[in-house]
Amino acid sequence: MTKLHPDVSSILLSEEDIHEIVARVGAQITEDYRDKNPLIVAVLRGAVVFVADLLRAIDCPCEIDFMAVSSYGNDVKSSGVVRIMKDLNTNIEGRHVIVVEDILDSGLTLSYLKDLLEQRGPASVEVAAFTIKDIDGYEPPLTPRYVGCHIPNEFIVGYGLDYAEHYRNLPYVGILKPEVYS
Ligand code: PRP
Repeated sequence: MTKLHPDVSSILLSEEDIHEIVARVGAQITEDYRDKNPLIVAVLRGAVVFVADLLRAIDCPCEIDFMAVSSYGNDVKSSGVVRIMKDLNTNIEGRHVIVVEDILDSGLTLSYLKDLLEQRGPASVEVAAFTIKDIDGYEPPLTPRYVGCHIPNEFIVGYGLDYAEHYRNLPYVGILKPEVYS
């Protein structure tokens, strides 16, 4: 039985749920990229837990690289401009790229990154998002090809997702108690 962190009110995705998601997305990528040697691009830091599991669920040759991004100030965030803190080590010209993220919230980060990578002459750029946050009346600027699951508009932590850099190490995705962040 999973021990619930005292700051978490309930579990949204259990370890079993996560295992099923990872297996399904890994099988889809294996099927689609069998002879393509895709480059898996993990966006630090949140995606690190998902990508570590996903990589092992992909049963075909593939490579991994990392990017780190940071949003500019709040005002600029709405424009979707992000600062590249760490760029790829790999030349992606002619490569099939899969960008892996832990969460699509506004979708601005992924939208910006996809556009940026597409300017570098890759064979293709697709996105795998572990979660998509469903926000009433909001249509994100991008629809990932691979989606782990949709989640309600709650403050969630765990499995890579943080609040003030904490809780990334929880093995499940849980809803943070409001008193923790208010
Ligand atoms: C989170 C997440 C995505 C982004 C999603 O990163 O990992 O990169 O926010 O939000 P968006 O869809 O509204 O653009 P964060 O900036 O919290 O950094 P982290 O990955 O280090 O947690």
